[in-house]
Amino acid sequence: MDAYLLDTVNMLLRWAHIITGIAWIGASFYFVSLDNSLTPPKDQKDVDKGVGGEQWGVHGGGFYHHQKYPVSPGYVPDQLHWSMWESYSTWLTGFALFTVLYLFNASTFLIDKSLFDWSPAAAITTALAFLVAFWVLYDLICRTLGRGKHGDLVVGGCVFVLIVVAAWASCHLFAGRAAFLLVGAMVATTMSGNVFFWIIPGQRKVVAAIKAGQPVDPVHGQRGKQRSVHNTFFTLPVLFSMMSNHYGFTYTAEHNWVVLVAIMTAGALIRLSFALRHKALAFGKPVPWHFAVIGTALLIGTLWAIRPAPQPAALAGAPVAPARFADVQAVVAQRCVVCHGPALQSKNVRLDTPDELSKHAQAVYQQVVVLKLMPMNNATQITDDERVLIKRWFESGAPKN
Ligand code: HEC
Repeated sequence: MDAYLLDTVNMLLRWAHIITGIAWIGASFYFVSLDNSLTPPKDQKDVDKGVGGEQWGVHGGGFYHHQKYPVSPGYVPDQLHWSMWESYSTWLTGFALFTVLYLFNASTFLIDKSLFDWSPAAAITTALAFLVAFWVLYDLICRTLGRGKHGDLVVGGCVFVLIVVAAWASCHLFAGRAAFLLVGAMVATTMSGNVFFWIIPGQRKVVAAIKAGQPVDPVHGQRGKQRSVHNTFFTLPVLFSMMSNHYGFTYTAEHNWVVLVAIMTAGALIRLSFALRHKALAFGKPVPWHFAVIGTALLIGTLWAIRPAPQPAALAGAPVAPARFADVQAVVAQRCVVCHGPALQSKNVRLDTPDELSKHAQAVYQQVVVLKLMPMNNATQITDDERVLIKRWFESGAPKN
């Protein structure tokens, strides 16, 4: 497909994905906070009606009085708001974006031949299998081990192990950038799976029972709540994975799967403190910040561990002799033009004429010298000396002759 068309589709999908994601996570964070802030109802009449907790809030100039009926209000109100399309549309736009970016361009984005040399078809099938397998295993864990007194802890431990294994496998099979995204996409798919396969169907059963005048089984509410709590702990880890593509130093680190697991764990721990904070504030207890402190220490420790080694003298700041444009052009022709030339213009960048190369000098310098993200997955095996050449050329004003 035309590179420009692909780029515009990518842009529009990403925009939609962020908007729907904000709507979903915003609602999800809000309801977690509401649920954890509920205090027992003050009025005995409310208790008799089946109200389990209430919260007063003020927002946008008005006062709100929320009441939660943990099992059933006894009738179905005419106007009942459901939250589901926020989740479904986030998944749909996310999956479409993943397809446009990673699956459509599998040989560039998904595959790193120096890591694992396989066909685009095999890589795509495996990536999709990650999404399905994680959901199936997670769901199995919840259904078999999620009951009982320490159910949540056991599920948490098993899911952690599963994510560690997935991160390890993903980072050994796929290009780092795709590997990080895939682990996040896998967890995010499970979040939507929780909404689609458990939370909403459970709510439908409860509503049907109320309408039919039958007793309501509280298990649906409990299950929905359990899955919704899991989703809240998945949120920060997933969001890191989604934005990690901007931070090459994370996914190009030596043991990148450990980096991914550590940062995701830090996110979950930080979220735990915030979720518990609502309850602590509602009941006048101290906020358990220690989870967030451990998470933050883990985060800072990880970023410290992957700090760059001192650059070779030539790549560091020392004053440099100018390079000849012809030499730079020769390097670019050999290392870049396959993906940035007449046949293909990745990200709409062409580098095959002196004018184009000169126009993109700043971006070339950034990508090749500073961030070292280009050539993509070093597909064309640029050398350090060649990077130094580009550095010298740019720092002497990127002359065009
Ligand atoms: C194997 C294909 C491939 C090779 C080889 C390659 N690139 Fe890229 N390049 C890409 C892709 C794909 C993108 C888009 C990346 C993205 O969307 O984040 C890109 C993006 C860029 C960008 C734009 C970055 C941005 O985010 O705006 C620049 C500049 C660039 N490449 C320069 C180079 C230079 C210079 C070389 C050679 C040293 C090179 N590329 C080699 C595939 C390649």
